Amino acid sequence: MDRNMKIANSMLDLIGQIPLVRLNRIGQGVGAEILVKPEFLNPSGSIKDRIARLMIEQAEACGALKAGMAVIEATTGNTGTALAFVAAVKGYCMRAFSPAMVANRSRTAIMIAFGAAVQAVDIEPYTAHDQGNNDGGGVDASVHGGHVELLPRQVCLDLEKERNDLWWARQFSNPSNVAAHRDGTAQEILDMTEGQLDAFVASVGTGGTILGVAQALKQHNPHISIIAVEPAGKAMMGDPEDYPMIPGISDGIIPQIFSSKIVDRVISITDKDAIDMAHQLAELEGMFCGMSSGANVLASTMVARELGVGKRVVTVLPDSRDRYLEVEKYTT
Ligand SMILES: Cc1ncc(COP(=O)(O)O)c(C=O)c1O
Repeated sequence: MDRNMKIANSMLDLIGQIPLVRLNRIGQGVGAEILVKPEFLNPSGSIKDRIARLMIEQAEACGALKAGMAVIEATTGNTGTALAFVAAVKGYCMRAFSPAMVANRSRTAIMIAFGAAVQAVDIEPYTAHDQGNNDGGGVDASVHGGHVELLPRQVCLDLEKERNDLWWARQFSNPSNVAAHRDGTAQEILDMTEGQLDAFVASVGTGGTILGVAQALKQHNPHISIIAVEPAGKAMMGDPEDYPMIPGISDGIIPQIFSSKIVDRVISITDKDAIDMAHQLAELEGMFCGMSSGANVLASTMVARELGVGKRVVTVLPDSRDRYLEVEKYTT
């Protein structure tokens, strides 16, 4: 978004160019300065608007997505709401397949509000057998998606084989996911800080944010630390009670990202600590953001303490809190 723009051609022009905001109260006395990027200000309420637009526009450019076709995706939420938003503006139908266990009523409602069809797919406990069988290519699950979306992805794969009137966005393996952050989010961070930052912190779902931003930041200055945030405890499918609450932060992706050597360190954050910090962000900073934002900021305070005064930590607030208000455990 061009902040001087008076008349936008469409809502798509309002994606991105989100300023950095200093954490004045939460950041007070922790050492390094903490700057956050409130990505919930994107039109559909999350950072995923960036990737949804680029994935769709790349598919249009290469002829994979044409007028009259439908966009499909296996998604637990924000990528679905963002794709539904972009599809609505561009006149495509959108069909989302969500794992029933983690389907979120608010995000489902947002997708439907943008005209998307949403189908809950029952999922079975993940087994080691699934590893290597997802996405149709015998590829490691950590490369092409978290375990939770294995069966919804299988539905997309089957549909893609059967029909030629739809295009599957494949967020976990679509290079535009990483490119949107490398060429967009990261460039904004470099412009807005004039390249002056010491660490970047981000939670990992598909890994698009951290990989894309890290690629650009490391190219600018290889000494900038890249810190991934993961949910503490077991991320598993077996027992829904054990499944981490922080939506969007994934299972099974960290090893692959970490082995890329572009991430310097991983910090684990518990659901409760992430939620508490999300509440503090609203109460102390006026930032109405979700749980992964809380996790990112908490991890950033840890890094800021270690780095000390005179250094700068940057993180993102991926989505808005309004989509979690219904979740019982999120309310105090
Ligand atoms: C709320 C939220 N936070 C963080 C992430 C992680 O972003 P990425 O997929 O770029 O790793 C996601 C991804 O879906 C998300 O929805």
